[in-house]
Amino acid sequence: MEIIFATSNQHKLQEAQGITGNKISLITPSQIGIYHDIPEDGKSLEENALIKASFIFKTTNRNCFADDTGLEVEALNGEPGVKSARYASEECDSRLNMQKLLKELKGVTNRKARFRTVIALFLDGKQHLFEGILNGTITETQYGKGGFGYDPLFVPEGYTKTLAELTDSQKNLISHRGIAIRKLSQFLKNYSTE
Ligand code: IMP
Repeated sequence: MEIIFATSNQHKLQEAQGITGNKISLITPSQIGIYHDIPEDGKSLEENALIKASFIFKTTNRNCFADDTGLEVEALNGEPGVKSARYASEECDSRLNMQKLLKELKGVTNRKARFRTVIALFLDGKQHLFEGILNGTITETQYGKGGFGYDPLFVPEGYTKTLAELTDSQKNLISHRGIAIRKLSQFLKNYSTE
């Protein structure tokens, strides 16, 4: 089965392909000549994932999926959430985003947070949603050099290190995106054997 993953991020593509295996072949929009920058102006992760996936579905009429992820901080009523990439400014600068988050949480004792990934799938014209959640806490300062985004501030539940201090494979095993992609992958495998 061939399916379009609406991303331009090669790292995400490889992570997803590693999970879905070789019976499901993932291709990107640019591989079939689609280079649109799809606006992510939805009010929720679900809306954004659906905006991206439905754009590709309408353009190609082919099976496709898209993801959207946010960091949801309990004491900030779920913020930055859907605004995670552009929390501090339109520049999508992780360093500034982390600075802003630490400022907002200064003196706040409830440091509970979660990463949440939503995947929207269009399969044979029908829409499906999958969710992956990683619970954890926000540190008082940055630790570690690996990963990206808010990784240096996020300690997963049951761990004493931030995501930026774990190896890629350790992170992939527990990550919100990994959980959502495994759910998608299982669904596709069951679907193709029905
Ligand atoms: P996207 O939907 O995957 O592009 O994620 C939106 C934003 O959430 C990114 O720009 C990052 O700031 C943040 N983010 C998403 N996934 C992760 C992660 O695994 N670790 C840290 N930050 C992440």
